[in-house]
Amino acid sequence: MSDSPLDELPGQTDALLAAIAALDSVEALRDAEPSLTGKRSPLSSLQRSLGGLAPEERKAAGAALQAARQRVEDALAARRGDLARAARRAALDADRLDLGDVVVDRVRWAASVGHPGLVAVTQRELEDVFVAMGFTVADGPEVEDEYHCFDALNTPSDHPARDTQDTFYLAPSAPAAPGGALGDTAPRLLLRTHTSSVQIRVMKKQDPPVRILVPGRVYRRDNADATHNPTFHQVEGLYVDRNVTVGDLKGTVEFVFRELMGPETRIRFRPHYFSYTEPSFEIDFSSALTRKMGKEWLEIAGCGMVHPQVFENVGYDPEVWTGWAFGFGIERIAMIRYGINDIRLFYENDVRFLKQF
Ligand code: DAH
Repeated sequence: MSDSPLDELPGQTDALLAAIAALDSVEALRDAEPSLTGKRSPLSSLQRSLGGLAPEERKAAGAALQAARQRVEDALAARRGDLARAARRAALDADRLDLGDVVVDRVRWAASVGHPGLVAVTQRELEDVFVAMGFTVADGPEVEDEYHCFDALNTPSDHPARDTQDTFYLAPSAPAAPGGALGDTAPRLLLRTHTSSVQIRVMKKQDPPVRILVPGRVYRRDNADATHNPTFHQVEGLYVDRNVTVGDLKGTVEFVFRELMGPETRIRFRPHYFSYTEPSFEIDFSSALTRKMGKEWLEIAGCGMVHPQVFENVGYDPEVWTGWAFGFGIERIAMIRYGINDIRLFYENDVRFLKQF
């Protein structure tokens, strides 16, 4: 049996398909195309050799050859598409801005300005200690009236705290308070000088017993210096129940300051005067922190047993109910804890300051 030229066809076809798969660019494909399917391609020379075959053989051989040519041309077209797509993608990639580094920098930057303020941190710790003892966090308005800030707290109108030089009163021409125009009969509005006003608001709304903690912003007509600022933050505590004693007050204050300032903290009460408590005390504390500041004792808060007149003012029977209250400045605690010597640093929003903590 004589060799048929088509014996070579499967091998030739496989070689062509392998060569097509190996093409790695549109340009290489274009250069190789004539040798793959053109007149000098192996398939074309096979085609020419068919002329020597018997007519009946030629028909079958022609069909086989045509099928092989179709496979090769299909493979070439598919490869051309793949290479063109890859080329387009590569061109796009080359144009694309790589934002990877920019994103990382941005995240680092955001993390560095996202530092919580020390006043907020201290306030939150205080809330945690009191909430653990069954206290509720209460809130009240910063624009307050004289009644809640002073009168109801048994602070008479001739008390120095009510001096216009001590407090920010709102001008009578200010927008009317909800519920009425400002005039002779309307209560004078002011920026609250202490969070004690919230004692009154809560007691008027709720029956005893009461256990509240009131953190908030307060205002004073003070010139800013290292230890004063016209606005700062206080925390007020109020506990009302039957048979509450100074011992309860002292035990609670001692517990809280040991949580905040370290377990070896000691406290002492010194007699003082506040119009809404009787007896009243100032609280000093002593710890490694005060000694670091060169002092054994530092004054930190005011407190006392709720004055019977205050209970009368809110409609609680002073023969039945007893209670204690305290108030202190959050900034002062933060300054002592973190060794900060100027209160104004809290309000400057300087990231270099915050970053140190
Ligand atoms: N309101 C006082 C102040 O601003 C602090 C204070 C003292 C609050 C005694 C109290 C208290 O509740 O009993 O200086």
